Amino acid sequence: MTLRIVAGTANRGLAEAVAAELYMEPAASEVERFPDGELRPVVANVRGADVYLVQPTGPPVNDHVIELLLLLDACRRDRAGRVTVVAPYFGYARQDRRRRPGEAIGVRVMADALATAGAGRLVVVDPHMPAIEAVCAMPTDALTAVPVLANALWERLPADAVVVAPDLGAVRLARHYARLLSRPVVMVRKTRLTGADVMTEGLVGEVSGRPALLVDDMITTGGTIDAAVDVLLAGGAQADIAVSATHGVLVEPAARRLARPEIHDVVVTDTLPQRDGPRTRRVCSIAPLLADAIGRLHRDEPLDELLVHA
Ligand code: R5P
Repeated sequence: MTLRIVAGTANRGLAEAVAAELYMEPAASEVERFPDGELRPVVANVRGADVYLVQPTGPPVNDHVIELLLLLDACRRDRAGRVTVVAPYFGYARQDRRRRPGEAIGVRVMADALATAGAGRLVVVDPHMPAIEAVCAMPTDALTAVPVLANALWERLPADAVVVAPDLGAVRLARHYARLLSRPVVMVRKTRLTGADVMTEGLVGEVSGRPALLVDDMITTGGTIDAAVDVLLAGGAQADIAVSATHGVLVEPAARRLARPEIHDVVVTDTLPQRDGPRTRRVCSIAPLLADAIGRLHRDEPLDELLVHA
């Protein structure tokens, strides 16, 4: 089967960079938008091919999800050999359990919809729920961008810095950074109040007099990072804080929150297009990681060290 990269509109720059790593160009695709908001995607040259559909489902999340479903259907109807969805940022992944009666499990609905529309496999990067495969009917590979980010952080990180997980959910990720950077791990105790606000209840670990590296899977409104910086300063940490996250979703008021003077370095990847952001932000590309994974999947080789649990 011929390998084809198909780019949705969510992050064409990333899809093109992935294709370039594989010495090819994305297959022709376009998405027409009707005056009432309906989308009509068209793909070319996918018949019989091993298709990798690159579409992170970041903001506007629902438009990008619908476009992805329509692209999948278009590939299936054009008799693609097999289709893998490459959604490095997977929207709705945080809705992984019912916190109160009457709620849906968003991640399950998304995974089922992709499978129904024709996805044979799903590739994501540092998903909010590391065990995402458990809710997906199709084989799912969770890649990690932590080595890419740690590599970018290494030179500037003071020797006595601590790696800080801003909540319990980020501890596994923080341990991965800590292993690669040879630094100890500290955790902030956090409770989410609303989509934009969180409450913190102190630290587990010692930060007094030390610089810190705050790590998370994503920064959305910046509320988690903002609250964690307050806790670190209250615990006596130095006003010398770096922040690293795989997904820079960065919706309002993230840029303002990340612009506080104690934060001197913000590192994210390009799973999502990086337009506006704080002055101190650096962007690392995950195109080589995705291209490596796609090449291995195409050749039926294991992903091993590229995966979250490796
Ligand atoms: C939640 O548990 C996630 O891991 C992130 O901490 C959260 O989504 C970040 O969102 P925000 O930047 O809006 O606090």
